[in-house]
Amino acid sequence: MAADISSDMLRRARDRATQLGVADLMEFTEADVTDLPFQDNAFDLVLTFNGLHCIPDPRAAVFELARVLKPGGILRGSTCVRGRGWRQDRFVAALQAAGFFGITPRAGDVQRWLRAAGLEVLAARHSGSVELFEALRPSA
Ligand SMILES: C[S@@+](CC[C@H](N)C(=O)[O-])C[C@H]1O[C@@H](n2cnc3c(N)ncnc32)[C@H](O)[C@@H]1O
Repeated sequence: MAADISSDMLRRARDRATQLGVADLMEFTEADVTDLPFQDNAFDLVLTFNGLHCIPDPRAAVFELARVLKPGGILRGSTCVRGRGWRQDRFVAALQAAGFFGITPRAGDVQRWLRAAGLEVLAARHSGSVELFEALRPSA
């Protein structure tokens, strides 16, 4: 299952999946990451790469991604963050002013939100202003 709010991005994803010969194995759904049309505990693995910094409420997105994760499931992803250096922060501010970025999380915010959503953070590291994270929904 692949979800994005943009039909154009979904078309591009479908084209790429077709090139790779995997489109028949996938579903593509137009959806807001803060209000996903999926049941609780639906997925073993949830991926969110390079998207949380683009939206107005990244905390709500993390809670929603955690909601759809099964017990024992893994949430893995990356986001641009603020607070990793003045050059990077100026770059983020410019992209926010241009409307490309939303409320970009501060370094460490995503880890706090993952824990608040009931997940266990397994890994978190930075590469410049990019934060990578992996978290587990503990089995009941
Ligand atoms: C920087 S792109 C990253 C795309 C892809 N994950 C990648 O790594 O190539 C950010 C994506 O977030 C999507 N997006 C923005 N706001 C969204 C929202 N509220 N819900 C779902 N997707 C959203 C955009 O349409 C865009 O495809």
